[in-house]
Amino acid sequence: MVLVTSGSPSKTLAWKVAQQLNTKFFDTEVKRFPDGETYVRILGEVAKEEVVVVQSLGHQPNHYLVELFLILDALKDLKAKRVITVLPYFAYARQDERFKPGEAISLKTVSRLIEAAGADHIFTIDSHRHRVVEQDELTKVPLEDLTAMAELAEHVNSKYELTNPAVIGPDSEAGAWAKIAADALSVDYDALEKKRFDAETVEIKPRHLDLKGRDVLIVDDIISTGNTIIKAIDVLKKNGVKDIYVACTHPLLVLNALVRIYQAGALDVVGTDTVSSVISQVSVAPVIANAINKIK
Ligand code: R5P
Repeated sequence: MVLVTSGSPSKTLAWKVAQQLNTKFFDTEVKRFPDGETYVRILGEVAKEEVVVVQSLGHQPNHYLVELFLILDALKDLKAKRVITVLPYFAYARQDERFKPGEAISLKTVSRLIEAAGADHIFTIDSHRHRVVEQDELTKVPLEDLTAMAELAEHVNSKYELTNPAVIGPDSEAGAWAKIAADALSVDYDALEKKRFDAETVEIKPRHLDLKGRDVLIVDDIISTGNTIIKAIDVLKKNGVKDIYVACTHPLLVLNALVRIYQAGALDVVGTDTVSSVISQVSVAPVIANAINKIK
């Protein structure tokens, strides 16, 4: 039997995953000492068991990473048979390359540390590692990226009567996510593309589609400050679209991102529960449970 647990950030999601897997959730106690150190205590009988650790890294990535390292190492020390690590939101993945000389490539560092702490199999969801194509560049254990884009698109489609909809990625990197969402609805997709004519003149527009009069669903992996989505909404309005809906996997929503996106003209903004937020309407628990069932 596989058991499910979580540190402090993802207990509800971990419990939902256990429900989906028809198995037991056990708690892991986490405390912070007055000096900032982290204390972890595994509250389940894990010897010879397969254990799934669900630990999202949103909002307090450094704290949650240390929790994760302590949990993984403790599980191994307590003789768990296999430790499956699910990172619904994988922080530090955006720095997937050395863009400027001397930069730490945080995606690689963090991936290796999670493996070294004891992960035997790692799952992420709509992870932002566009420039790392082969997973074995990151870890020797399997590292699989799942997606919630189809579930997000179906959710928006079931809530609204969309007029001749298209799915749009706010930049070329989001084009692949737009395709997954669009395929789920059997509709068109496109991505916005930046064309630079000279130092002062930049034009952002859809790569292929004429979107005039069409409803649009913008999809992206992360909404952090909201600036990417707001820029996309401005461009789409200039291109004459009808109604605009927004969906993202990881609603970090820092500062007043959500209000600013609504003010920019979005009719609705939906996200998943990889990061708990007021727009977390779609649960990724079934996506995670399906993936775990395949490797059981
Ligand atoms: C960047 O390439 C990502 O895919 C997101 O578009 C970005 O992280 C969103 O950040 P923000 O909401 O701050 O614009």
